[in-house]
Amino acid sequence: MIKLQGSLKISGDKSISHRALIFAALSVGESKIRNLLESRDVFATINILKELGIKIRKKSNFWVINGNGTDGFLEPNKALNCENSGTTARLMIGAVASNPISCTFIGDKSLSKRSMSRVTNYLEKIGAETKLTKENYLPLMITGSNNLLPYNHSCSIPSAQIKSALILSGLNIKGKTTIIEKRKTRDHTERLMKYLNLNFKIKKFKNKQTLLELNGPYEIKSKDISVASDPSSAAFFIVGALITPGSKIKLTNIALNPTRIEYIKILKKMGGNIRIKKTRKLCGEDVGTISVKSSKLKGINIDSKLSPLLIDEYPILSIAATQAKGAMTMKGLGELRHKESDRIKSIVINLNKLGFNVEEKNDNITIRYSKTVIKNVKKIRTYGDHRIAMSFSILNLLYKDRILIDDKDCIAISYPKFFQHLKQLQK
Ligand code: S3P
Repeated sequence: MIKLQGSLKISGDKSISHRALIFAALSVGESKIRNLLESRDVFATINILKELGIKIRKKSNFWVINGNGTDGFLEPNKALNCENSGTTARLMIGAVASNPISCTFIGDKSLSKRSMSRVTNYLEKIGAETKLTKENYLPLMITGSNNLLPYNHSCSIPSAQIKSALILSGLNIKGKTTIIEKRKTRDHTERLMKYLNLNFKIKKFKNKQTLLELNGPYEIKSKDISVASDPSSAAFFIVGALITPGSKIKLTNIALNPTRIEYIKILKKMGGNIRIKKTRKLCGEDVGTISVKSSKLKGINIDSKLSPLLIDEYPILSIAATQAKGAMTMKGLGELRHKESDRIKSIVINLNKLGFNVEEKNDNITIRYSKTVIKNVKKIRTYGDHRIAMSFSILNLLYKDRILIDDKDCIAISYPKFFQHLKQLQK
């Protein structure tokens, strides 16, 4: 039986990598970025920034970015291709809005089915002109302005991408931009802004809403950034170690941002033997080591309130649930329909195909324990979704490669070194 053992440094965090590049581009002067995730999504952001006139190059083990300031983007000569990356699209649409240029954003088939009006509706209110395909999708055209209006935004969908797009648009607006967030989402943008010494306010209310107040325009002084390692990528190996008997692993340099590691609390409640040790602060983020031993898991109920904090981890939590005694119910997963694939469908169809007892009802998924023996080779459809491909690759540790993944290449979207790292841990 395969087990996972040893220590590993996971690749850089995807969310922080996009933001590090964008903020370096909006700074004045040269910044170096270390441990940048070199994945397809992040390269989409690099290529778009280059099209907008930013000089970016790689030197030995770091990247050098020459920023042009918050109003320094040049009008691109061709369409800006976000490929599969929702974060690239949403954040860059926000970032170009406060520059007086016209841009066309395009993406791959999957991204072209994901909502962009969730960002442009706000940008229209402050004076950017946008034209979307079928009023919601890429390709979209945007004409920005360096005279956008200060505005009080209120975000109804809990989404770090929407919030970050509005923050980025606000950096070159004269006056006060406020953003109310009803439910907490990942806060890497705010942490990076603090690290870069930007002056802004955060107020937390008793009803759990948060108000962010920007006072632009900002001049950002360039500063080197080191990217902490990705807790969402770590989740695959953590679950891998929990479900394979005899495993014991240590993952180092992981971003311990509370908006990203809620899944560890869930796995611990399920009986997972996981220890977290904070080791240092890195560019505004707490960073540390996560140690995991294989464990007997039990199913629990996950409340819908937690969904913004678990948004990328439901696929791998579903894999943990297949090995947990009892029943596991994950509630309020509606936003999963707007990801790289309809993740409710991708989880349920594939687990059912493998013979697991899975039920979907009103955006909730219930997985009941059943001792499933996979005798014949079964083919999983990833729908081009990297997190689905990695989740089922982890389940495969228990089924000796009897699970075939139709498209492993999509893993390079967020974690090109996934199989190399998995092999390193495999004993
Ligand atoms: C991200 C935010 C989340 C997450 C995505 C990365 C970010 O999306 O699913 O992988 O970097 O801001 P939403 O903002 O749509 O929840």
